Amino acid sequence: MALPEITLNTGKNIPQIGLGVWQVKDDQEFQTAFDAAAKAGYRHFDSAQFYENEHLLGNAWKNSGLPREEFFLTTKIALANFKPAKVAASFEESLKKLQSDYVDLLLLHFPVTILRKNAWKALEQIYAEGGAKSIGVSNYTIRHLKEMKKYAKITPAVNQIELHVFLQQPELIEYCQNEGIVVEAYSPLAHSQDMNDQTVQKIADKYGKTYAQIMLRWLVQKGLVILPKSVTPSRIVENISIFDFEISDQDMAVLDTLDKDLRTCWSPVYVP
Ligand SMILES: NC(=O)c1ccc[n+]([C@@H]2O[C@H](COP(=O)([O-])OP(=O)(O)OC[C@H]3O[C@@H](n4cnc5c(N)ncnc54)[C@H](OP(=O)(O)O)[C@@H]3O)[C@@H](O)[C@H]2O)c1
Repeated sequence: MALPEITLNTGKNIPQIGLGVWQVKDDQEFQTAFDAAAKAGYRHFDSAQFYENEHLLGNAWKNSGLPREEFFLTTKIALANFKPAKVAASFEESLKKLQSDYVDLLLLHFPVTILRKNAWKALEQIYAEGGAKSIGVSNYTIRHLKEMKKYAKITPAVNQIELHVFLQQPELIEYCQNEGIVVEAYSPLAHSQDMNDQTVQKIADKYGKTYAQIMLRWLVQKGLVILPKSVTPSRIVENISIFDFEISDQDMAVLDTLDKDLRTCWSPVYVP
């Protein structure tokens, strides 16, 4: 079955599921996860300068023998590289590590105070020169996105934020969708910190699916891109096996009640 894609405001398509690779730093572990993912049909990989594994992603896609155009590769500018000259120089390094002359998506990793405005201008320049097919942001709140309207020539293609049934952020999703910004859900499994909710488990049992599959499918039905991370081949397959069933409106509404503002990563909420 062909995996769904979403069209970004640049006209480029993004596969609706990507493999997250944060915290995967071991060479062999990375290659095994990548190979399992590629075999299962993943073509979208979410990396970052901060993850210190862009070189492993570069090696892995090269080793696959598949052409570069088959893959959708994302990286993100690390907080330490937000000064404009550093954005450009660090991005050149990223391309070398990824063994590619472009990325499909380049993000600012976090709304770093003061520096984010000129860092975005540097991303616009990279986009204009073709180094990134699409550019976007991560961890931006509505406030940060509204501020961007004052200085951005290009509307971000995506906002990558923490999202799962236990952290739903409906206002932020609605704002992004109204602005034509695709929302990417990071930590879609809540970093596996809450895998025992009885309501999720009951719905999983009803559909003959796993707990993780219900968490991921709920996000997919909201029209979001999902970035589950796993280094376990069986889970990598499990996480992508969610496009052959549909959660009913009634059960979606039940899952909508599980929001408890659970943040498992960093919070941008109070970043000025
Ligand atoms: N932009 C940002 O600031 C930001 C922040 C955080 C994350 N991200 C991105 O989002 C990706 C995913 O987020 P995340 O790594 O925080 O967490 P996640 O995907 O929500 O959860 C990953 C955890 O769940 C486990 N897991 C995976 N599939 C499972 C399954 N089917 N059943 C049970 N457990 C399962 C994994 O274990 P194993 O690996 O051992 O299988 C791992 O411990 C990251 O890798 C990164 O690409 C971005």
